[in-house]
Amino acid sequence: MTPAGIVGGLFLLLALYCGIDPFKHSAISEFPDFEAYYVDMPPWSTVPKEKDTQNFLQKSEIKFLNQVQGPESMAFDPLGRGPYTGVADGRIVFWDGQKWKDFAYTSNNRSELCDTKPSPSSYLSNEHICGRPLGLRFDKKTGDLYIADAYFGLLKVGRDGGLATPLASEAEGVPLRFTNDLDIDDQGNVYFTDSSSKYQRRNFLQVVFSAEDSGRILKYDPRTKETTVLVRNLQFPNGVSLSKDGSFFVFCEACTGRLRKYWLKGEKAGSSEELAILPGFPDNVRTNKDGDFWVALHCRLSMYTYINSLYPKFRTFILKLPIPINVQYLLLIQGRHHAVVVKYSQEGKLLQILEDSKGKVVKTISEVQEIDGKLWMGSVLMPFIAVHNLA
Ligand SMILES: *[C@@H]1O[C@H](CO)[C@@H](O)[C@H](O)[C@H]1NC(C)=O
Repeated sequence: MTPAGIVGGLFLLLALYCGIDPFKHSAISEFPDFEAYYVDMPPWSTVPKEKDTQNFLQKSEIKFLNQVQGPESMAFDPLGRGPYTGVADGRIVFWDGQKWKDFAYTSNNRSELCDTKPSPSSYLSNEHICGRPLGLRFDKKTGDLYIADAYFGLLKVGRDGGLATPLASEAEGVPLRFTNDLDIDDQGNVYFTDSSSKYQRRNFLQVVFSAEDSGRILKYDPRTKETTVLVRNLQFPNGVSLSKDGSFFVFCEACTGRLRKYWLKGEKAGSSEELAILPGFPDNVRTNKDGDFWVALHCRLSMYTYINSLYPKFRTFILKLPIPINVQYLLLIQGRHHAVVVKYSQEGKLLQILEDSKGKVVKTISEVQEIDGKLWMGSVLMPFIAVHNLA
């Protein structure tokens, strides 16, 4: 046999192995309906290459270490108290200035299954029972806290906290499977995201790997109590934030690495367009007092993830190799955590980028918001909140 024949034969065997996956070692073996979608990526040359060579985020302060597990989103109440944050065991907790207090719950069926566990990931299997609050926002007029819970949909709770009231758990008859983030306009309308109609949060890696397009942007009207779909067929829509003047909101589309704008007022009301191409895969977005948008990125875009996005067949082939899912994930994030936050103007201009490229201090960030010259950063994967002084 010639060397080329041997290589060809080995390749055939490998292809056969991947096609059959006899030992169920691949990252997608438990998902028979798995299908990889094409992602319409921006041209590589338009992806921002700016770097924070000083790694400014390494100068952040790590607060509340091991007191909060997986705090994705933070909110301060209309009196400026807080933060309030949703943690991995399903509680929404409140920092009263001295200690963390229980504030609210989204599940009416909590039990010892929701008790404290060693790491944020050890709660995954009971999230559908305990709840998993992600996006949090206060309605500044009423003082009610609105919650996007990954499993229980959109809910709200009054100033005294306790068990939250469900507001929406489906739209157009399709259940919310992965409610993620929200914002509220001055009329009390709530704009929120359902990241996927197919996979739940505990399988968020399947949403990332497949780039399936069942994600939706929704609107809840407090007067009619109805939920309508504003944008559909999105590939992992995530954070939502209103512009300073309320004429539009922005939302993050994780798979395509874009920040999009949805017009609420004016001639273009009801339509959406690209606002910015991001240097990586976004999670939440928050508007600061100047009207700029702070976006937290899960990681920077690499040539590997770029090629994976454009070629679903290649992606499926890699996913069928006998490589555990956590290693596949490490390939996506280039082997280590890399914290990145970016600030964009209302016109979509990149204004600032801050990083911890070695993942030394902040590691990975789900949300960043600017309050009084400080950036508050939460992470769904970490047991702390990081604070960075911009001054
Ligand atoms: C309530 O929790 C128990 C486990 O503690 C679970 O077996 C049961 O299915 C849950 N009920 C509902 C309605 O979710």
